[in-house]
Amino acid sequence: MSLTLAILKPDCVRRRLIGKAIAFIEKHGFGIVCLKMVRLQRDEAGAFYNVHTGKEYFEPLLKFMTSGHSVLLVLEHEKAVQHFRKIIGATDPQKAAEGTLRRMYAENVRENIVHGSDSDENAKKEIAFFFPTMEIIK
Ligand code: RTP
Ligand code: MG
Repeated sequence: MSLTLAILKPDCVRRRLIGKAIAFIEKHGFGIVCLKMVRLQRDEAGAFYNVHTGKEYFEPLLKFMTSGHSVLLVLEHEKAVQHFRKIIGATDPQKAAEGTLRRMYAENVRENIVHGSDSDENAKKEIAFFFPTMEIIK
């Protein structure tokens, strides 16, 4: 079993889709290891998405990610990172495969419902960023 970090983004919360998203995630075999709801501050969102610094969508992304509460989840599954990326689908919901979370619920390339770590190394960093006591509770 391995771990990944998921974020149900502010559009997911605003549109009352938390329940549907979590049901989808559990139906696809993930165990929930940690869960909390937060309102990201600008510096936190900027640090989290720092690899996108300088991109034309960076400022709108920060504005979106700080626009309301998000749900942070640590999820467990075999090859968790890879499996989660597969079930959420491509960044742009119009390009996401049929039956994926983004294809079903996301509205556009920015407001795309959910984040998933993109490598085991980043999953470890992202989990530690939001859940500093992670190693103690696992
Ligand atoms: P995430 O990190 O949130 O799981 O998304 P991802 O890997 O599928 O996509 P990534 O390239 O890492 O982009 C991070 C987030 O930035 C916003 N974005 N907007 N062209 C745009 O307006 C644009 N491109 C990316 C999205 O919210 C994307 O999920
Ligand atoms: Mg990404």
